[in-house]
Amino acid sequence: MNDRYLEFTHSSFGKSLAAMIGLPTPPRLKRADGPWESQPLDGKAVLVGSSRGATLVGPLLSALSGAGATLRIVPEHSGLAPLKEAAAALRITVHGNPADGAGEPRNHAVVFDASGLSSPAQLRELYDFVQPVLRGIAANGRILLLSRAPESLQDVAAKTASTALRGFIRSLGKEVGKNGTTANLIEVPTGADEAIDPVLRFFLTPHSAYVTGQVLPLAAPQTRGVALPGSLEGKIALVTGAARGIGASIAETLAREGAKVIGMDHPSAEGGLGETMAKIGGVGLALDVTAPDAATRIASEVGKNFGGLDIVVHNAGITRDKMLRNMPAHFWDMVLNINLGAILKINEGLLKEGFRDGARVVCISSIGGIGGNAGQTNYGATKAGVIGYVDAMASTFARRGGAINAVAPGFIETAMTAAMPFGPREVGRRINSLSQGGLPQDIAEAVTFFASPAASAVNGRTLRVCGQNFFGQ
Ligand SMILES: NC(=O)c1ccc[n+]([C@@H]2O[C@H](COP(=O)([O-])OP(=O)(O)OC[C@H]3O[C@@H](n4cnc5c(N)ncnc54)[C@H](O)[C@@H]3O)[C@@H](O)[C@H]2O)c1
Repeated sequence: MNDRYLEFTHSSFGKSLAAMIGLPTPPRLKRADGPWESQPLDGKAVLVGSSRGATLVGPLLSALSGAGATLRIVPEHSGLAPLKEAAAALRITVHGNPADGAGEPRNHAVVFDASGLSSPAQLRELYDFVQPVLRGIAANGRILLLSRAPESLQDVAAKTASTALRGFIRSLGKEVGKNGTTANLIEVPTGADEAIDPVLRFFLTPHSAYVTGQVLPLAAPQTRGVALPGSLEGKIALVTGAARGIGASIAETLAREGAKVIGMDHPSAEGGLGETMAKIGGVGLALDVTAPDAATRIASEVGKNFGGLDIVVHNAGITRDKMLRNMPAHFWDMVLNINLGAILKINEGLLKEGFRDGARVVCISSIGGIGGNAGQTNYGATKAGVIGYVDAMASTFARRGGAINAVAPGFIETAMTAAMPFGPREVGRRINSLSQGGLPQDIAEAVTFFASPAASAVNGRTLRVCGQNFFGQ
C-alpha cells in the first residue's frame, strides 16, 4: 500500500507546506535496486576510527577496501594508532577527513572499531570520534560500531563499557533516522574476526535500508564467510507463504541472487502462488503448512526434482486478533499451529530427510512477539516462540554446517497491514526512527542475507527489521 503522506511531503507543494508549518518529513529511503554487487561501496567515502587497543582494525580495513570504499580517518583522534598500524601493514591508503564544505563528497558511512574499550572512561574516545562528524554524513548514510560481545568479556570495566555501546547505538539510531541514516552495532567474538566482511557489506549498503538501532552478536563461523554475490547460485530454496506479501518478495529476492525457489502456499492461494512463481521461474507447491504430512510431501517433491534443500524460509503466518477474554479456542489453535507448530514439525521432518548439509533456515518472527500487542496474545506467543526456537536449534544446525535465524519485521506495507483501520495503521507506520513503514523488500533483503553463506557467523539470532520501531525497545 502507498504511503500517501510520505509521497505528499516529497511533492514540491507538500515540501513547502511541511517546511512552513513544521510537519515531519519521512526520508525517502534508498533501497537496493538489483542483485548484490562485488564492490558495493565503490565511489563511497567511509570514515573509519578506532579505540586504543582495538583488535578488529585489520579485518575491518581489508573488508572496506575490498568493498571498494575510499577510506578516511581523523588524523588527530586519540585512538587512531591501531588503525594506522593496520593500514600500513596491509598497505591500504587512508585519507584525512576533509573539512565540511571542502567540496569533497560527504561520508557515506562512519565506522568505529570499539573492540579495544577497556573501561567506561574510554567511551570518551567514541564521543570524540563520532560527535564532530555526525553532521557530515550523507543522506541515507550508515553508522556502524564493532565491539567484543559483553558476554565474552571477564573484566568488569571492559564488560560495562561494551554493554554501554548498546544503549549508545539505540539512542543514536533515534537521532539520525530523519535523513534515512541508520546506526547499528555488531558484536564480534574472538574467532569470528574474518567473518565480518560480508556482515559489514549488509549493514553499509542499501540492502539494510530499514534496519536501524540494532545489535547483532556474531558467532564463531562453522565455515569461512563468502561474499554474497553469486553465493546463492544453484541453491534450492523453499519459501512458505510465497503467494503474496513478504513471502512473494522473499522468493523474488532469493531468485534474484540465483537460487531456485520452490514457493509453497495454502491450496486456497494457488492462483497467486502460480503468478509469483511464473515471474521468477520458480516451482509452486500448494500445501498447507499444518498438513500432518507436510514435511514428507516437501521432502519427496524436492527429492524427486532437486535432491535436497539448501534454504528454508518459514514465512507463512496469520493473525486472528481478539482480546484474550473474548478469544475463541479455534483462533488460538489456528495461530499457534500455523505460525509456530508447523515450523517445528516441518524442520523436524526435514532434519530426518530433506535438508542438505549446510542448510540455512530463516523464520519470520515479529516485533509483536517482542513488544506485545493487546488483542494478539496468540500471535505474540508464536512470534516470541520463534525467537526462542531459533536460539534453541542453533547448535543442531551448526553441527550440520548450517544455521537457523529469525527476522522480526516491524510495520510492513502488505495486505495484512492495509486491512488495519486508518488510525492504528497511521500510528503503526510512523512510530519508528525512520517515520515510515517498511516494504516487503526490506524483510526479503535481510532474509536473503541470512539464507546465504555470507552470514556464516550469524546463528540463533533474531534481527529486527523495523526501522527501530518504538515497541519493545
Ligand atoms: N506485514 C507485517 O507488517 C508483518 C509484521 C510482522 C510480521 N509479519 C509476518 O510476516 C509473515 C508474512 O506476512 P505478510 O504480511 O506477507 O502476510 P500475508 O497475509 O500477506 O501473507 C501470508 C501468506 O501465508 C500464507 N499462509 C497462511 N496460512 C497458511 C498455511 N496454513 N499454509 C500455507 N500458507 C499459508 C497465506 O496464504 C499468504 O500467502 C507472517 O509470518 C507475518 O506474521 C508481518
